[in-house]
Amino acid sequence: MRIIRSIRVLQVWRRKYATQRIGFVPTMGALHEGHLSLIRRARKHCSTVVVSIFVNPLQFSPSEDLSRYPRPVKSDQQLCREAGVDVLFCPSSEEFYPKDFQTTVKVNRLSQSWEGTFRPTHFEGVTTVVTKLLCLVRPNRSYFGQKDYQQLLVIKHMVKDLNIDTKIVRCSTIRESDGLALSSRNRYLSENQRRQAISLSVALRQGVQSIKHGQTNVQMIQNSMQKILEKFSGVRIEYLAVCDANTLSTLPRVKGEVVLVGAIQIGKVRLIDNMLAKGP
Ligand code: PAF
Repeated sequence: MRIIRSIRVLQVWRRKYATQRIGFVPTMGALHEGHLSLIRRARKHCSTVVVSIFVNPLQFSPSEDLSRYPRPVKSDQQLCREAGVDVLFCPSSEEFYPKDFQTTVKVNRLSQSWEGTFRPTHFEGVTTVVTKLLCLVRPNRSYFGQKDYQQLLVIKHMVKDLNIDTKIVRCSTIRESDGLALSSRNRYLSENQRRQAISLSVALRQGVQSIKHGQTNVQMIQNSMQKILEKFSGVRIEYLAVCDANTLSTLPRVKGEVVLVGAIQIGKVRLIDNMLAKGP
């Protein structure tokens, strides 16, 4: 595995690999089974796999602690090596965002709801970094987890709007055996908080089940999910909703493909999750 830290070196490398089918997995490191599943999928379908590790300052708000974000550099490199990654791109913040950096990319409507309400500058940071990474790596396929469902839709929209020539591949959320979606943030949970953390997936699963059993009244589904969450102590709901799977707009009734989205706060840890369901 080749580790590239410089943008210039990556560009030179990319020119040499013009004919390869390149699969790209952008990450912020602290790799877990969720990331590894994306890498394996890329490995299966592409001749060359590039992973980036870059803790993107632009997607953190001043109240979110960028310096506290985990950076287990050596073990991340080892995991990438074992997973058969060809190139690991780890640019420095100074080179990626030089002092005179002044261009951002913003997907307007899709970025505003749900996560956008609680983290108003987050998606602009994500779409800016992902655009830069896609321009550098120029992958045939780019792999993103369903776990960050709104991020996935925002990036898909951006790629379409800007005619970026890459296929965005959605990969299923990987969960612990009790249902908790894997996230780099789970490592911040205390033992007790870890027990409360399953509440979100329990509530969402219950919502999916009620849709499967024919419930189409969104308010009733949301109320029953909320009741489940309220049974867990120390869990604060940020949002919990059933919405259109493509636009993320709210619906009075379940119709076609919907996504059940939720965000909770347990102590200082913020967790998000989602599940897809099909209505009539
Ligand atoms: O999902 C993430 O880890 C990040 O938002 C991403 C896509 C790597 C951009 O920094």
